[in-house]
Amino acid sequence: MDLYKNKTIIVTGAGAGIGRATALAFAIEGADVVVSDIDEKRGVETARLIHSQDGSCTFIGCDVSNEADVKNLVKTTLDRYGKLHGAFNNAGTEGEVAQMTECSLENWNKVIDTDLKGVWLCMKYEIPAMIEAGGGTIVNCSSIAGLVGIEAIPAYVASKHGVIGLTQAAALEYAKKNIRVNAVCPGPIHTKMLDRFTGGNEEPMAAKTPMGRIGRPDEVADTVLWLMSSKSSYVTGQSLAIDGGWVSQ
Ligand SMILES: NC(=O)c1ccc[n+]([C@@H]2O[C@H](COP(=O)([O-])OP(=O)(O)OC[C@H]3O[C@@H](n4cnc5c(N)ncnc54)[C@H](O)[C@@H]3O)[C@@H](O)[C@H]2O)c1
Repeated sequence: MDLYKNKTIIVTGAGAGIGRATALAFAIEGADVVVSDIDEKRGVETARLIHSQDGSCTFIGCDVSNEADVKNLVKTTLDRYGKLHGAFNNAGTEGEVAQMTECSLENWNKVIDTDLKGVWLCMKYEIPAMIEAGGGTIVNCSSIAGLVGIEAIPAYVASKHGVIGLTQAAALEYAKKNIRVNAVCPGPIHTKMLDRFTGGNEEPMAAKTPMGRIGRPDEVADTVLWLMSSKSSYVTGQSLAIDGGWVSQ
């Protein structure tokens, strides 16, 4: 399993859920994975999990909404591995569940800072490193909430729609520099975030999904690995739903 042998890949928000599953999948395919998260304890747990499966990784703490942290994430990656080939900009938060008129400014700012500004800051520092390496691939994490409206998470919906626009803009700007930029748009996926959003009762969301079930983090990871690989070499600027049919309804 060496699809990513000698490739250095950053995964943000790798301390849990989709990020953890994807970091592990990259490591199993031979990558040197930079496991990054705002939560050091969880990030270190992911790193342990990867090491226990003979994978290669380093944990670097980073709050993606903090420019100095993101700059340090890329710099430390380059100091450690020399090159950056790929990044999964996955870190995100759903914030508080509240309708538009009840959404506080604090909640709005926190979600936009993490889910939208965070993706931009990551690309701002990753892209020059990838140009230096002769090219690279970025996958940003949007959501079905980036493709359609969902009630009671206005800042999340706005930020995930923004991620799709940013992905297209970056894909255009760097297409001739051998950098591909795509996004994934997961539907309901079994993680702590979904637990919080549904209050622990996933059944109504499963019932609302055409495939009749909640997705698994490894199903998102498989798609991210494909989008990051040369097997999708002519794909850029796309936002791919991994949603059991949700947005086709
Ligand atoms: N689970 C779903 O149903 C679902 C659906 C669509 C999109 N997504 C997206 O997938 C991504 C991962 O979600 P998940 O379900 O695995 O969530 P999760 O809450 O299980 O994990 C998110 C991880 O991101 C980290 N994180 C949060 N804020 C951060 C910050 N400022 N800087 C760095 N790390 C930070 C957390 O510590 C955590 O380890 C998110 O962008 C989310 O919006 C999830």
